[in-house]
Amino acid sequence: MSDKYIIEGGRPLRGEINVSSAKNAVLPIIACCAMIKDMVVLHDCELLSDVENMLGIIKSLGGKYEITGDSIVIDCKGLHFSAVNHELTGALRSSVFILGPLLARFRRAEISYPGGCDIGLRPIDLHLDGLKKLGVIIDEDNEKLRSDGRRLHAGNVTLAFPSVGATENLIMTATLTEGRTVLKNVASEPEIVDLQNFINAMGGNVHGAGTSTITVDGVKRLHGGTYSPIRDRIVAGTYLIAGSMCGGKVTVHGISSDWLTALTEKLRYAGVKITERPESITVESNGSLRMINKIETKPYPGFPTDLQAPITALMSSSIGRGYIIENLFENRFRHVAELIKMGADITVCGRAGTVRGAHLHSAQVRAEDLRGGASLVLAGLKAEGKTEIMGVHHIDRGYYKLEEKISLLGGKIKRVKISCV
Ligand code: EPZ
Repeated sequence: MSDKYIIEGGRPLRGEINVSSAKNAVLPIIACCAMIKDMVVLHDCELLSDVENMLGIIKSLGGKYEITGDSIVIDCKGLHFSAVNHELTGALRSSVFILGPLLARFRRAEISYPGGCDIGLRPIDLHLDGLKKLGVIIDEDNEKLRSDGRRLHAGNVTLAFPSVGATENLIMTATLTEGRTVLKNVASEPEIVDLQNFINAMGGNVHGAGTSTITVDGVKRLHGGTYSPIRDRIVAGTYLIAGSMCGGKVTVHGISSDWLTALTEKLRYAGVKITERPESITVESNGSLRMINKIETKPYPGFPTDLQAPITALMSSSIGRGYIIENLFENRFRHVAELIKMGADITVCGRAGTVRGAHLHSAQVRAEDLRGGASLVLAGLKAEGKTEIMGVHHIDRGYYKLEEKISLLGGKIKRVKISCV
């Protein structure tokens, strides 16, 4: 069973918060520790449930970790090769990131298919095609994925699509592979730059992250050390959207304003006053917004798919009609049915949604996935009255103590334990 949120909405939000470490930076970095035979200390890392799951995979392979405050000490000296079982890979889609590090260290890897998730089928063909181009022999049956990297070599790979995960897996695989590997048409998200910076801080030789071409010059080994992953731009964007739609003044600290230009330009269009500084962004709004005409999700630096559900909540309570096109995932409108229970006027056809501004009211709703759950919290903060949100465990995957942060901003939100019946 999962906890629920009870939110009393209709209040402006005011205040400043420091954003926590980026889930989508920490996950590949923890996976990368599997190829490091020394101790690594990651500072300022919140223990999100997805992070705990990735640490569980490291532990299942004989690695050790210890949580001390908001630091994670990871020691993979004793890591051994074994198959990563389906309970662990099924619980965490991004378990696929362990492929690269295991191939780099042991020249072989065996994982159960991570499978799909709430938002889509989540295929890994781009990961596998890239690994094959680097000489990895892959044996796939419907359950297991066995990779033989004894003939792993440097080479050139051009991705058919700039997949974040495939980019990260190929960088990690090539890091301990002798010679120069050139990866083209790669993803350019800030989290990929952070993985490059982590690997280079541990003795690697990766360049070009943040552009469409990454070069990896293989080294013999990586050494241990300490590292602070970047802050979470999606969590930051979620709080900025909350402040914009509820009215008030909200500042998020710890993120580069460059990371969210696709969002801030849309919020400006809606009438929000934005102040951008090198390491923080402030939104000021009266809560009555002009409808954003169109949101189309794209790979970075386009509008991030992870903010599509949160911005849909904002559009639902704006004035006018707007359109949403979700290009990245085939099932990322599950929050719409729940928003409609709160009075939203949204129609969806395939990957396109039409939003007509409405007055949102409180309701009992259920989170069906991580970012969809966040959009329900935003709608609950906007709507007057008491909104109950079930399925908070989805939200815990990517938002650390969300109720504390929202309360800091003046929102009235309570987390209630649901007794197991
Ligand atoms: C990462 O997922 C993020 N997760 C996602 O965040 C994010 O939405 C996504 O990138 C896009 O930005 C992590 O970093 C842990 P992709 P990933 O490979 O790597 C298709 C969140 O809410 N594709 O860039 O899985 C895929 O189906 C999560 O924090 C293939 O077809 O994303 C999708 O349509 C959700 N074959 C598109 O590419 C492949 O081999 C983008 O996927 C790989 C992907």
